[in-house]
Amino acid sequence: MDRITKAVKRAREERETVVGYRQHADKSLRGREIQSRKIQISPDTLRENRITIDGINDSCSHAYKVLRTRVWQQMRAHGWNTLGITSANAGEGKSLTAINLAVGLAKMDVAQSIVLVDLDMRRPSLHSYFGFWPEVGISDYLQGAVSFSEILVEPDIGKITLLPGNMPFANSSEIISSARMQRLLNEIKANFPSRLVIFDLPPMLLTDDVMVFAPNVDAMLFVIEEGASTSEEITRAIELLKDVELLGTVLNKSEDVSLGEGYY
Ligand SMILES: Nc1ncnc2c1ncn2[C@@H]1O[C@H](COP(=O)(O)OP(=O)(O)OP(=O)(O)O)[C@@H](O)[C@H]1O
Ligand SMILES: [Mg+2]
Repeated sequence: MDRITKAVKRAREERETVVGYRQHADKSLRGREIQSRKIQISPDTLRENRITIDGINDSCSHAYKVLRTRVWQQMRAHGWNTLGITSANAGEGKSLTAINLAVGLAKMDVAQSIVLVDLDMRRPSLHSYFGFWPEVGISDYLQGAVSFSEILVEPDIGKITLLPGNMPFANSSEIISSARMQRLLNEIKANFPSRLVIFDLPPMLLTDDVMVFAPNVDAMLFVIEEGASTSEEITRAIELLKDVELLGTVLNKSEDVSLGEGYY
């Protein structure tokens, strides 16, 4: 059983981590406040899953700070507020990068809400990193089973709101291009007027989901696990993104410590 499966199992056993419901701080454009499910995450869960909070995982925290600052500067300079995170192949570190970026941005002294969205619908995983199991997730919303506010989760880390997936969803590219997806994006816009949205996406070369979704993001961040994908695969994946702004690349799991604080 891999570490994430174990984490999910443990989280299921330990349920409930929910500690209450909170009116969201970012009052919606409609003038009403939405509720999100507030959860508490233990420092052990964060540490075990490599989520970098100040004072925890110090060896990594500087690299993620550099990344978040550069991303923030680029997003602000271009007036962008939606960022997709992808890679050529599976397992290169998209989800962990998305989370640590969101956590870093949420800790910055800026007024924006950070909305972290699990759009890897075939293999949703963000909830596992936070150590909880969502009863409902994005695929339930996209199928019309629940409302927008029912899928919002607020971990007790800065100003992050998480839109988790739960069960894997096979026909993801159809649902990603659906009217309901546009409605989800409109809900995010309407309910988080001051927002920076990070979409954790699937790998480029295994499905067409990213190509289908790409027109909805302002820019893309491309994660490369050192030594994992071939240069041909990386080139092919980046070519597929030719119509999308590429904010940058993250070299992940690098053995070269001299890159320092590298990654980016
Ligand atoms: N910088 C890193 N250092 C050490 N381990 C890492 C690093 N980045 C990711 N990992 C680990 O690698 C594994 C895959 O990471 P992650 O889930 O972020 O990849 P992914 O690209 O989202 O995968 P998938 O394509 O399956 O969604 C996880 O076990 C994660 O903890
Ligand atoms: Mg992932």
